[in-house]
Amino acid sequence: MAARESEVNPFLRGNFAPWRMEGEAPDLEVEGQLPRELRGTYYRNGPNQAFEPIGRYHWFDGDGMVHAIHVEDGRAHYRNRWVASEGLQEERAAGHALYPGLLEFEATEAPRFKVTGNTNIVSHAKRLLALVESSLPTELDHRTLETRGLYDFAGKLAGSMTAHPKLDAQNGEMLFFGYSPFPPYLQYYVVDRSGAIVHAEPIDLAWPSMIHDFAVTEKHVVFLLCPIVFDLEKALSKGSIFSWEPERGTRIGIMPRRGRSADVRWLETDPCYVFHPMNAYDDGDDVVLDVHRYEELLFMNPNAARDPSSHDKQIAHLHRWRLDPAKGSVRSEPLDDHGGEFPRVDERLVGRRHRFGYFAATGPEGNDSLLPEFTSVVKIDLERGSRTEVRPHGKGNGCGEPVFVPRRDDSAEDDGWVLYLAYDHERNASDFLVVDARDFTGEPVARVRLPHRVPYGFHGNWVGAS
Ligand SMILES: [Fe+2]
Repeated sequence: MAARESEVNPFLRGNFAPWRMEGEAPDLEVEGQLPRELRGTYYRNGPNQAFEPIGRYHWFDGDGMVHAIHVEDGRAHYRNRWVASEGLQEERAAGHALYPGLLEFEATEAPRFKVTGNTNIVSHAKRLLALVESSLPTELDHRTLETRGLYDFAGKLAGSMTAHPKLDAQNGEMLFFGYSPFPPYLQYYVVDRSGAIVHAEPIDLAWPSMIHDFAVTEKHVVFLLCPIVFDLEKALSKGSIFSWEPERGTRIGIMPRRGRSADVRWLETDPCYVFHPMNAYDDGDDVVLDVHRYEELLFMNPNAARDPSSHDKQIAHLHRWRLDPAKGSVRSEPLDDHGGEFPRVDERLVGRRHRFGYFAATGPEGNDSLLPEFTSVVKIDLERGSRTEVRPHGKGNGCGEPVFVPRRDDSAEDDGWVLYLAYDHERNASDFLVVDARDFTGEPVARVRLPHRVPYGFHGNWVGAS
């Protein structure tokens, strides 16, 4: 008898395995002291497969689960809930999985996708949205995490929404895009501070692609078109809906924030893949864009992912592109040697010049597993020759995306705390860490002991108490 997928797939094992309970845990144990100024909720989303998968499982397939840690008066409270999509509710009624994942695409003629909402969780205009790039957002309740249903911006969003909208801290706007294997391949939107879509524009692309994230500056939006191509015909023969075609190179599109498709300036650079920019900003007429850059995208190909000779290509490094739209040139500069992912800056500086950045990285012990398990967290100072400070957690203790929260609204760029989840494999549970960003390698200000493990996931955000 063939092994069950959950017995053989590394993304269903260890701390990648789903946590199959929903619950609440008030007044968590805190080592150290939670700062009084820290008032709000840290939300973290990630894939958390509810039922044994049908066929092969990809990490991107899992049902979304949101973990929330509410901090107030020096106390911390935990709650977690699945994103209760219609698909998951159908599966609950059936008592088993009904939806195949990404890797089983070829097995079905008219594929149906669950709106897992498993990638990010963002609060804008008083709505908490669980996001997955294939679909509409799912609205959740800020306090209870209860699923309210799909959200389409009063009927103005017909297609998908990236999991990485950009919130402009100055004017309250939210900018985002959605992509599709069918024309129009890319749609761009601006949402005003009240939550209304006020600008929508289909963007012409040279090919349909998986575009995970983008960047904004004060004046521009920046689209990344990497040579990973949707190819539905090849999907039937090759077993993947994506085809890696490096001969196309990578194109970076710069457009005014309220621009039209015809305004996009496309610049060309070497083939690569980027899931996540750290940030971008205007520098005179140039645009500076920092990204975690892969030489090649192998995540979508499970065979390549298990081939140790491809190891170097599966690790992203922080990289700076200086883009000159007038000349059409791209200057490329590596910034750091750590293999890393999940880059973030102070949210107040999204689209503005940043000095500091934070990301999860491979620890000093290395990573032989080829799994995206990052056992350290890094702070980088980009004004001092890319000087880094590293917090290593040790083998088996993976760390999540670091999120910066300023001490006060008007505090200096790194005057505040870095929040992240870290797995403690000895305790088989996770900790929520609060680190002073200016004492990055020192003892954490607070270590909150969660009652159980939080599976490795994707993205999170802090929503301050109003
Ligand atoms: Fe992402």
